[in-house]
Amino acid sequence: MSKNYYITTPIYYPSAKPHMGHAYSSIIADFFARLKRIQGYNVFFLTGTDEHGQKIQRAAEKVKKDPIAFCDEISKTFKDLSKILNLSNDDFIRTTEKRHFKSVENLWNILEERGEIYLSKYSGWYSVSDEAFYSEDELDTIDGIKVNKLSGSQVEWVEEESYFFKLSNWQDKLLKFYSENPKFILPESRRNEVISFVKGGLKDLSVSRKSFTWGIKVPSNKDHVIYVWLDALTNYLSALNYPDHNDNKFKSFWPANLHLIGKDILRFHAVYWPAFLLAAKINPPQRVYGHGWILSGEEKMSKSKGNILDPIEIINTYGLDPLRYYLLKEVSFGNDGNISKEKLESCINSDLANNYGNLCQRVISFCEKNTDLKIPKAGNFLKEDLDIFNNYSENLKKLSEEIDDQNINFYVEFILSQLFKANKYFNDQEPWKKKNNIDRLNTIVYVSLELIRKISIMIYPIIPSSALKVLNIFSIQEKDIIFNTITNNNFLKEDHKILKLNILFKKVEKND
Ligand code: ME8
Ligand code: MG
Repeated sequence: MSKNYYITTPIYYPSAKPHMGHAYSSIIADFFARLKRIQGYNVFFLTGTDEHGQKIQRAAEKVKKDPIAFCDEISKTFKDLSKILNLSNDDFIRTTEKRHFKSVENLWNILEERGEIYLSKYSGWYSVSDEAFYSEDELDTIDGIKVNKLSGSQVEWVEEESYFFKLSNWQDKLLKFYSENPKFILPESRRNEVISFVKGGLKDLSVSRKSFTWGIKVPSNKDHVIYVWLDALTNYLSALNYPDHNDNKFKSFWPANLHLIGKDILRFHAVYWPAFLLAAKINPPQRVYGHGWILSGEEKMSKSKGNILDPIEIINTYGLDPLRYYLLKEVSFGNDGNISKEKLESCINSDLANNYGNLCQRVISFCEKNTDLKIPKAGNFLKEDLDIFNNYSENLKKLSEEIDDQNINFYVEFILSQLFKANKYFNDQEPWKKKNNIDRLNTIVYVSLELIRKISIMIYPIIPSSALKVLNIFSIQEKDIIFNTITNNNFLKEDHKILKLNILFKKVEKND
């Protein structure tokens, strides 16, 4: 079995500064990247910006900037955000980079050489905001304006010479591919949507535009720019040094294990992308997961609606780890969710401060008073010690399976239940009443410290910097975190001095 793992976020349009939706996809991807790394995988985690096409060209024109200067500026805000979110991405790709041009041109040439692309004329509706071609039945007319039913974005009529990709040829092959790879699209509900879309019939897809210039030129006909989605999707290959098939990165990481995306761009990733790849004789990715939307109130955030949630504002008020925790715990993964100040504050106060923070603080301050901050020697484990330890060994396999299906909520629930059990254990065992039975006192402290270590490893992908502060007290550094050691009940070494821990999470004062 390959121990490599390639995970990607969508590459975001730098048409405006990043918002909470972008932060959401990136944080979720970072969770998986970190988890896979501590599970021993060699991980490649990619994010970046999608800089070509009419949407960007128009956004730049609007502020009278050169498109590349415009992109440089906004792409930087996405790159800065990746630092603010503490993403562990291995690369940040921009589609205006040379490496990407080379890869897109190569893919185009292959498709053209294989007879998968022909020149004709497009006449139909186009949404610049979605960079998507829509058929009449996907549109509504609202106040005399034609919009796409799902995204609500306005369409305009386009009539121009265009290259087409023979998507219609791929209908049956795609359906066969979905049935042979039942988990290619998750969650299940999205898979069903995609299958019924494909069963409804695929028309050939326009893959070039002629009426503007901001993009990668068709190599054989410089009057055309390559359709921005064919350009953008190829970023996943460019970052692995495609077209060099002998390159180590490409050999190790392609096909991608997981393209994590929002449900708004499922069709591009789950229909067009595998079709392009199959047509070019390149293996399709193993999984496309379409997560839900973070709503602002009841609506999807959008620039035109003016209801954008700014992740940086929330981080400045509450801190990064609380936001990460909230998004991973409170949003039922795969479904839409929203940000409620009340629920966020209760995550901080109950789960993070009272549950995790308090467990760490009370056990460590007990150590300070009773074991001179040394890890004590454990005596024989009693049934109650072994019972709580067994939770980990009994659930390790199940946890890994659930997480491989992106069942984030299962994972978080497991941690919460273990936190609850650990706090209860410390209460019930009452080590402060065992001063005349030092052997038992030491064992309880040892078990409690082990539980803190196990939980901190598990919670690390969710709240990496807080978990690291805790692991550091045991002199465990980031590179030394190994997921499977949660089943080792004798990991901590006796007499090893532990460090004191500063307050992990400040409670939010409720002033009502
Ligand atoms: O679509 N809730 O870029 P984009 C959750 N460039 N996630 C959200 C969201 C929300 N309200 N809004 C955006 C593009 N997202 C293309 C992608 S990939 C080859 C090219 C997230 O800037 C979600 O992941 O519009 C969504 O799919 C992505 O941002 C779209 O970002
Ligand atoms: Mg969008």
